[in-house]
Amino acid sequence: GTAGPLPPGCEAAPPVRDWPALELAGTDFDPVLADLMREGPVTRIRLPHGEGWAWLATRYEDVRTVTNDPRFSRAEVTRRQVTRLAPHFKPRPGSLAWADQPDHNRLRKPLAGAFTVGAMKRLRPRAQGILDALVDGVLRDGPPADLVERVLEPFPITVVSEVMGVPEADRERVHAWTRQIISTSGGAEAAETAKQRLYGWITETVRARAGSTGEDVYSLLGAAVARAEIGEEEAVGLAGPLQIGGEAVTHNCGQMLFLMLTRPELMARMRERPAERGPVLDELLRWIPHRSTVGLARIALQDVELSDGTRIPAGDPVYVSYLAGNRDPAVFPDPDRILPDRDPNPHLAFGHGTHYCTGAVLARLQTELLVDTLLERLPELRLAVPAEDVEWRRRTMIRGPRTLPVTW
Ligand code: HEM
Repeated sequence: GTAGPLPPGCEAAPPVRDWPALELAGTDFDPVLADLMREGPVTRIRLPHGEGWAWLATRYEDVRTVTNDPRFSRAEVTRRQVTRLAPHFKPRPGSLAWADQPDHNRLRKPLAGAFTVGAMKRLRPRAQGILDALVDGVLRDGPPADLVERVLEPFPITVVSEVMGVPEADRERVHAWTRQIISTSGGAEAAETAKQRLYGWITETVRARAGSTGEDVYSLLGAAVARAEIGEEEAVGLAGPLQIGGEAVTHNCGQMLFLMLTRPELMARMRERPAERGPVLDELLRWIPHRSTVGLARIALQDVELSDGTRIPAGDPVYVSYLAGNRDPAVFPDPDRILPDRDPNPHLAFGHGTHYCTGAVLARLQTELLVDTLLERLPELRLAVPAEDVEWRRRTMIRGPRTLPVTW
């Protein structure tokens, strides 16, 4: 095979396990990941693309160590062909996901202020307005409706455009490209074309806002480029993932609503104690299997020892699984059950450390608005098909229902 040599002094290194991207049903936990967790805290995996194998850390403590330790580098991964889930691999300059410190701080600085709790508070009434308009449409047309198509997809895309500062006149185009990029049905070529158009549009927009004093993200980036704090290419690389990032909300909330619609006790709890929904949302964020396999690797710059004594030699790639960390019984007793009263709940749904999700507060705001608004305005909300007939996304990084047919 293509596996590299065993690390020196690691004769007893665990076997390299193939981890295919399974077509998982519903919100099932990936059985391969469950096996890997049983095998040990630190194992070795080979994903469908890239080369060789990588270490995998699944314990909560190790996940936090690896993600918060500068001895593990993202930038280094861009110079290699590490085993990975994605077939294509084209990291862009400026992308937060591939930057190490101190670059990561420099790139993030222009965004400071745009995604804070304060900024999200100011955004709230506008986001509520966007959502209300979508739900008005659903009510006007009457049941049944596909919640994904009518609400879960357009809502985050529109809210993100509001934060980014996409002008009204450009929204239709920008949203169409975004949908093409994230859709699985249009094919890889259509997605690539849409991506090129979107990035071209972002370049023009950042350039046009060089002198802007606005608080929207494109103005902040344009001004930072004008002050030479970041390059124009970096500004575009920063903006792209943010413009597309709403997708995560669509699918995560899709899974969340599916859970509420198929677990009557969960729905009853949400309806009966609306003031206490916050902690339940966190418990669902902890439990939801947000993604397929694992995200982006890191590479050890020095030898690092993990909790069970496993030594990760310098140069080796490492993955963490936030999903596994969220099911670590040492931190979350009875981890496979959804316990609405779980407390404390220090979950890792938005990651940890330097690469903690930029959009976490925005995602949280949208999740709250979606659940509150749908429950309030559709008191009889229920699935319009048997749970088994709900279709799920296939061959994607982020898991979620493809459609969510509901009635009320
Ligand atoms: C990174 C989860 C929504 C933008 C991440 C990471 C996770 C995550 C687990 C990776 C941390 C790592 O690489 O170690 C989620 C979930 C969401 C969500 C569960 C919704 C429920 C969003 C939204 C945006 C966004 C709405 C933007 C509008 C980003 C960006 C990164 C990121 C830019 C890369 C950050 C970095 O590497 O520094 N997210 N996310 N996410 N997310 Fe999110």
